[in-house]
Amino acid sequence: PASKSTNMVSLIVDGFEVSVPEGTSVMRASMEAGIKIPKLCATDSVEAFGSCRLCLVEIEGRRGTPASCTTPVSEGMVVKTQTEKVQKLRKGVMELYISDHPLDCLTCAANGDCELQDAAGAVGLRDVRYEAKETHFEARNTSGEENPQWLPKDDSNPYFTYDPSKCIVCSRCVRACEEVQGTFALTIEGRGFDSRVSAGMAGDDFLGSDCVSCGACVQACPTATLQEKSVIELGTPDKSVVTTCAYCGVGCSFKAE
Ligand code: FES
Repeated sequence: PASKSTNMVSLIVDGFEVSVPEGTSVMRASMEAGIKIPKLCATDSVEAFGSCRLCLVEIEGRRGTPASCTTPVSEGMVVKTQTEKVQKLRKGVMELYISDHPLDCLTCAANGDCELQDAAGAVGLRDVRYEAKETHFEARNTSGEENPQWLPKDDSNPYFTYDPSKCIVCSRCVRACEEVQGTFALTIEGRGFDSRVSAGMAGDDFLGSDCVSCGACVQACPTATLQEKSVIELGTPDKSVVTTCAYCGVGCSFKAE
């Protein structure tokens, strides 16, 4: 989200000078300078979380490669967003995401409107070096045994579907549920490879959870994990209009063909 401070801070991003309000993230400052940094877990409507590790940058005088979405600007900062090091790191991160993602883009309802697809293109990913032993999307492994990681689709909500096989656990849906809607219906369950988005207590589906079907999670999802049923049935609309009323502030989408 944009900082509302009236104190301005100047910094250099890839050789361009930019002035932004104090408290602005390096990612947003870069955007102000016309430089787009690849991202998956950051979005304007919720607080930065720094989980996807795609937006890494180098900052002069600073060790390591901090996430630009969670790093605030400081006066005189010199940021480099396109060094060989960060490009290699971003590509490696994307390879890991794609190694555990079904490669069904051509038949996926989000094809052409998927941030994972866009991010893979932005980092120049062409091949994935890692062979996945276990994935979240194969019901059976290569030996024909049941895959304990496989999670079936949740179709219980009348307006949208939840397909955990496509989830990258960026937590945008969880944060949107909390920060935009204030409902706290979603959480992240488990750790590491076992972590997944869950609608309430273990075993709850969306319909049986505290979800109020506001759609904030669907709006926030960068992949086809949470998809409106109308999009699955009718395809991606040519135009969409978002209106926000004072009652809930979520912003409803109206699709036009
Ligand atoms: Fe910064 Fe995900 S966008 S860590």
